[in-house]
Amino acid sequence: MSIAMSYGLDQFVSDCRSILKRDPGPEGRDEVRSLLERLLSNKTFVEQYCGEHVPRGLKVLYEDPDLGFQILAHINDKARISPPHDHGASWAIYGQATKYTDIIEWAREDDGADPKHAKLKPVKKYRLTPGKAGIYQDGAIHSIDYPDYARFIRVTGTNLDKINRIKIDLKTGAVEQMYAQQAS
Ligand SMILES: [Fe+2]
Repeated sequence: MSIAMSYGLDQFVSDCRSILKRDPGPEGRDEVRSLLERLLSNKTFVEQYCGEHVPRGLKVLYEDPDLGFQILAHINDKARISPPHDHGASWAIYGQATKYTDIIEWAREDDGADPKHAKLKPVKKYRLTPGKAGIYQDGAIHSIDYPDYARFIRVTGTNLDKINRIKIDLKTGAVEQMYAQQAS
């Protein structure tokens, strides 16, 4: 196999397009999740888009003009713990490139009737290691915790700048709206 045959970003984009056109639901997204793991097993891709030389911050690698999904690189240097949050009406897939991310998925114990208050309980905890990808379906509440230099590739169903999301303070249960795209 030549180097040109290794699984790269262009092929991943074109596979995402055809899969999500055919099946935009949970099963199609899980196919995208598997392919993201394949992409992250390509050391050349990881070095090119997540290596030491890459500028820090959040970079949009691709936005689909028809389907609206985005592929983003989160080039982090500093450790971070996010509060529990959702992605509004969008799903999200996180694929680990370097170091690891600990993820907790949360369920609401309240009935969701109070827009300013939520009571959460943890329902699933796992660690993403390099080459592994996890998925949150629509509206799933999750939090992430990663060390210095943890970098990841994220695929979201739509540009999160355009939709309302919430984050929840674990101590007080206060619900806050999030408006800008943040590295979480
Ligand atoms: Fe998130």
